[in-house]
Amino acid sequence: MCGIIGYIGEKPANQIIFDGLTRLEYRGYDSAGIAVLDGGRLLVKKEVGKLRNLHDMFITDFPSASTHGIGHTRWATHGRPSGFNAHPHGDCKTSLMVAHNGIIENYIKLKTRLTLAGHVFLSETDSEVLAHLIESHYSGNLEVAVRTALQEVEGAYAIVVIHRDHPDCLICARKESPLIVAVGQGENFIASDVTAIMHYTRTVHYLDNLCMAIVKRDGVDFFDVDGHSMDKKPVQVDWNPVAAEKGGFSHFMLKEIHEQPQVIRDTIGGRTSEEEGKIYLTELGLSGPDIFKFQRIVMVACGTAYYAGCVGKYMIEKLVRIPVECDLASEFRYREPIVDANTLVVAVSQSGETADTLAAVREARARGAKVLGIVNAKESSLTREVDGLVYIHAGPEIGVASTKAYIAMLTAFTLLALLLGKIRGTLTPAAVRREISELKRLPQEIEKVLANSAPIRVLAERFENAHNFLYLGRGINFPTALEGALKLKEISYIHAEAYAAGEMKHGPIALIDKELPVFVIATASAIYDKIISNVKEVQARSGIVIALATEGDEEIGKYVEHVIYLPRVSELLSPILNVIPLQLFAYFVADLRGLDVDQPRNLAKSVTVE
Ligand code: F6R
Repeated sequence: MCGIIGYIGEKPANQIIFDGLTRLEYRGYDSAGIAVLDGGRLLVKKEVGKLRNLHDMFITDFPSASTHGIGHTRWATHGRPSGFNAHPHGDCKTSLMVAHNGIIENYIKLKTRLTLAGHVFLSETDSEVLAHLIESHYSGNLEVAVRTALQEVEGAYAIVVIHRDHPDCLICARKESPLIVAVGQGENFIASDVTAIMHYTRTVHYLDNLCMAIVKRDGVDFFDVDGHSMDKKPVQVDWNPVAAEKGGFSHFMLKEIHEQPQVIRDTIGGRTSEEEGKIYLTELGLSGPDIFKFQRIVMVACGTAYYAGCVGKYMIEKLVRIPVECDLASEFRYREPIVDANTLVVAVSQSGETADTLAAVREARARGAKVLGIVNAKESSLTREVDGLVYIHAGPEIGVASTKAYIAMLTAFTLLALLLGKIRGTLTPAAVRREISELKRLPQEIEKVLANSAPIRVLAERFENAHNFLYLGRGINFPTALEGALKLKEISYIHAEAYAAGEMKHGPIALIDKELPVFVIATASAIYDKIISNVKEVQARSGIVIALATEGDEEIGKYVEHVIYLPRVSELLSPILNVIPLQLFAYFVADLRGLDVDQPRNLAKSVTVE
């Protein structure tokens, strides 16, 4: 989604801003813009396209070495991608410029009023209204003008404002959309995401919701919505910037797929005692009595995080014997969900900023439910709106298509299910010990799959031109099929559908012909025989089966042309292993088709609007 940078210091602002925007590219964008203050004038450049193509405009040909400016990458919501619609947006006299993330819901009403008052708008965006609104309230005090303008705004925003008559400061504010202020030596930064500024400083203030900051070269002042000054302590960000680079891989996605063994180790890290059969989730925020009280669990999430929640459902129902429902956050929030104090709502999110997931959490809490967050991004909005947390410790995920965060979510769900089962007495310490030992063995099994990825690339070469794919799985691996199909469609743009294998004969079987590749997850499990029946149904209609099977399975080769063998792991943990070849397959197909793997078209890393 859109990215924001602000800089005030001693270095050339356009370079720092361009660098920061480049580090935010992974969020997805279609246009970019920079505005700097230069000798009492605001210089603005903005255009459609990728930053690599805009380099000369922003760096080589930039007519200023100003040390004070703002920048933005835009992902179009209101108004098509264009130079006019790109941010920053100015007022009538270009006396101020604003970069905005979020959506101003009442912009039509505000724009009509401002137009009647004589303001001239240049873009189709909701965001431009902010610049004119601030202009309409400005009479020398920028802080007051920004605050008064924001009081009229409905919707979500993270904004940064620069004004030609205020060469000593930038002003920023947020409601719902994330924003940070980072502190350097004689220089300060504003950004929508910490990855943008990690190379300059690790000292960061996460701006609170409905708060504002005046950022100067030598200090930052924070205010609440009514203008009362606030004391804020910075935090030190411990993410490794090297982790945000490609590290020799051709794409971030491939690097992140290869990081998965380590991610599992990091997610488990220090949270288990194998000898005692114990799990420690220190930020859980749920007491023993809370855990006994829950009669139901409801997962809310979007996309890949939702599929992780679906695997979590199978794990928790099996180990804890509590009914679990999975709900798409965008559905849950609007259907008057039936949850109460006896329901645990589990919100799953890599970014912790997904608008629908945040709204679902608010809806659940308003109805009295306790909410647990399974989250990657520390200090994200979600972490501040839940009763307890399980951080997944996947580190920064840059590829837009989620891979390592999914694996970390499944690992976190395993720990959560074991802990709940232990506390509610559905699991003996011996059973917990056995599962911990299995979980700890997984990274080395995944390493074997990664080391043997060449046959998967060969399969990708064979099928790169297919027009449709079907993915089938059953039980705990039905969500694996869903995730495999999602990965393929989002990065290779090939249509892929996933079905519970037993459901195939109720409709999708009509699609099967000799052109259709069908992935079937057929790893060793209690329902292996049922899967083999489904494989035969596909074979009988000339479909091309690609089976994921367990090493040592000699039967499967009798029925299918293509088999990817995987090490034997417990059925409960098999989704963590099975998704790896599906991620690799999607990656290889997209790469062979010459597509932008890390930033697929139309997608954004963090979906902070509805
Ligand atoms: C798919 C993908 C998306 C996200 C979804 C939720 O590869 O990345 O489907 O999983 O937008 O995002 P988070 O987890 O940040 O809430």
